[in-house]
Amino acid sequence: MLEGFNQNVSTYAADVDRAFWITTGISIAMFVLVAGLMALFIVRYHHTKVQPGEIRNIRDHLGLEIAWTVIPTILLFVIFYYGYTSFRDLRTMPKDAFTVDVLGKRWSWTFTYPNGKQTDELYVPVGKNIKLIMGAPDGDVLHSFFVPAFRVKEDVVPGRKTHIWFNATKPGRYDIECAEYCGVRHAKMLSKVEVMKAADFDTWYASDKLSPHDTAAPKSKGEMLYKTLGCASCHSLDGSIIVGPSFAGLFGKNVTVMTGGKTRRTVVDDAYLERAIREPGADVAEGFPDGVMPDLSDQIDAEQLKALVTFIKEQNGGGAVPEAAAPA
Ligand code: CUA
Repeated sequence: MLEGFNQNVSTYAADVDRAFWITTGISIAMFVLVAGLMALFIVRYHHTKVQPGEIRNIRDHLGLEIAWTVIPTILLFVIFYYGYTSFRDLRTMPKDAFTVDVLGKRWSWTFTYPNGKQTDELYVPVGKNIKLIMGAPDGDVLHSFFVPAFRVKEDVVPGRKTHIWFNATKPGRYDIECAEYCGVRHAKMLSKVEVMKAADFDTWYASDKLSPHDTAAPKSKGEMLYKTLGCASCHSLDGSIIVGPSFAGLFGKNVTVMTGGKTRRTVVDDAYLERAIREPGADVAEGFPDGVMPDLSDQIDAEQLKALVTFIKEQNGGGAVPEAAAPA
């Protein structure tokens, strides 16, 4: 179950909650006052209870007019004060922050740390200012990075960088959600942020393990990329279809693709896979949606591309890679 609003894990979470409850409290009080008076007047001044001419015709009332101008103005300034001060804290980036790059895309999160480490979950030390610089690949769609327990949420926009910061006060694992509808797997665009004791974080940060809970580092660079780049959110390794083709037994398969509006038969070989990763949409495999695979050409270099292709080839069971036949 997703949760977080029952927890209060960042330095400014209490301020955000206070602003929310003051705004909500004033709104409820005003609603009860106005709706209550309306109900009272309906009953009290019903035509069966008062005679025509019985009610005094009041033209103006200076005291009342001042009261209903001044009191709401004060209340608005109270709401503004608490809203503005907590918003200012949220939007003022600390200078001494540990900075992590966040890539949000359909439908996964990738976190890149200053030492080049990449993960699919966010790991941070407790009690430290953390700044996130967030973006999405060109041609992707809007996402929103949301950690309810920290009261932090910010849109992630293709072609532009957005920023947030937080300082987590309690070790633990907290939900990361996507809060902007972004397609079929929006509801599954989830991750975790793990707040760790400083020493544990340092040990993990210096290691080559993907997660501090892993017993070993990923077996290959390709496996690492498969997990951190978000391939895993659409391509299974067990033959099941999530969104895109499963990598199990994919290499060497004969497939029907749509290329430039024309259908053709081809075989999944190295060149095909490289093209599929570098130029998604160039060939659209039959039975799979077009325009969903993110363009990763800015995210991976030639060496990483090779590592990914190798990883896909390794998913043919037992390591026996069928010899790719030339397409007819
Ligand atoms: Cu990404 Cu919703």
